[in-house]
Parts: sequence; C-alpha cells; structure tokens
Amino acid sequence: MTETQRYVTANGRFLPTSLYDRSIAITMREGIWRPRLVREVLDGEPKDVLDLGCGSGTLAIALAAAPGSHRVTGIDGDPQILGMARDKLGSENVEWVEGMADHLPFDDGSFDRVVTSLLLHHLQPPVKRAALAEARRVLRPGGRLHVADFGRAQDPLMRILFAGLQVLDGRANTADHAAGRLPHMIAEAGFADVESRGSLRTTWGSFELLRAEG
Ligand SMILES: C[S@@+](CC[C@H](N)C(=O)[O-])C[C@H]1O[C@@H](n2cnc3c(N)ncnc32)[C@H](O)[C@@H]1O
Repeated sequence: MTETQRYVTANGRFLPTSLYDRSIAITMREGIWRPRLVREVLDGEPKDVLDLGCGSGTLAIALAAAPGSHRVTGIDGDPQILGMARDKLGSENVEWVEGMADHLPFDDGSFDRVVTSLLLHHLQPPVKRAALAEARRVLRPGGRLHVADFGRAQDPLMRILFAGLQVLDGRANTADHAAGRLPHMIAEAGFADVESRGSLRTTWGSFELLRAEG
C-alpha cells in the first residue's frame, strides 16, 4: 500500500487499536469537548445523525443516550474498532455500519447532521476531500456538519506536540491540519458558513471544533 492509499487505524501506525479508548482518555481532554459536541449536534432536534469514522463509538453512544427522538448511525472502515463499539453499554441504540468515509453507503439526503471527530487527520488529502463531499451529499437540505479535529497550532508548544502526532499518524494526512487548511477544505466541499466553535490545547496539539451548513 502506498502512502497515499494508507488506511490509518484508530491509534495510529504504531499503537494497538485495543488501547484506543485509554489513549484518548489520557491525551485528548474528551470530557470537555465530547459533551459539548453532543449538545451542539443535537441542537435543533435532528431526526437522523451520522457519526462518520465513529471508531470505538464513544460519541455515537453518547449521542444516542442524549434526550430526544433522534436515530444515530455510526460508520467506520475498521471491523476491529467497530467490534469494540458493539461491546459497549448503550451500543444497542446505535446502528453500526462498516464502510469507507469516501464512499458512504447511504442515499443522498439521509441525515440531518453529520459529525466527525478525529477522523479527518487520518485521511490523505484526496480522501479527505472525497469524505467531505460525501458528508455533504448525505446531508438533507438545511443539515449541518460538525467537525472536531486538529487545526493550526495555537502556539509553539502545540506545534511541537502535533509533530509527535504526525510521527504516529503520518505526515501527508496531517499536513492540511498543521497548515490550518481544514475550514477552507470544508468550504471547498460545498458547505456554507464554516465557523470555528472554539479550540482546545491537548497532548497532541490544538484541537478545534468546526461547524458548517450543508
Ligand atoms: C482516531 S479514530 C476516531 C474515532 C472516533 N471518531 C472518536 O472520536 O474517538 C479514527 C477512526 O477513523 C477510522 N478511519 C480511518 N480511515 C477511514 C476511512 N477511510 N473510512 C472510514 N473510517 C476510517 C479508523 O478506523 C478510526 O476508527
């Protein structure tokens, strides 16, 4: 497999997927941003929510457990991490689908929200663009995209820490994030009103929440 075709699994190129939840709990301050993301995604009472690159399912399960009558679908390309998601308490409230972000097995206009956390920096630039285009395709008119992923470093320390993540996850797939190009790529995929909802210092660099209208 060439560098541009590479599939980067949840815990990067060198760490086992089985340790993903523990790695994230230690490094990513998820107690701060996941609950906030759940609130923002569910604001406006969507009916159908897609978690793109759902991984071990933490966010999808939290979305499904939140008050409301929404349905949650989680899609990921790795059967091992989907197995970890299916083993969790509350997983029965989510529909789990194995599939690739750049070829989503859903009809046009199937969802009111697409949320994707920590996926895009795993994707090579052409795959990232295709995944964003697919996210737009599967959104209904008036739907919304929520992205939580790494962005341009807020300070030199964040830049140094992100260089460590680039070793683990790969350089080509993370370069657009280091350069702060993600909002522009979202707009290029046809989304309107791309908006930063805040950023957070983490062990692996500056992490940002973005929102855009489909
Ligand atoms: C760092 S994990 C993030 C998981 C989850 N969204 C979270 O917030 O914890 C990245 C996930 O993206 C998945 N992934 C990577 N490339 C993918 C692709 N091309 N299509 C679908 N999933 C992909 C991996 O299997 C992994 O589960």
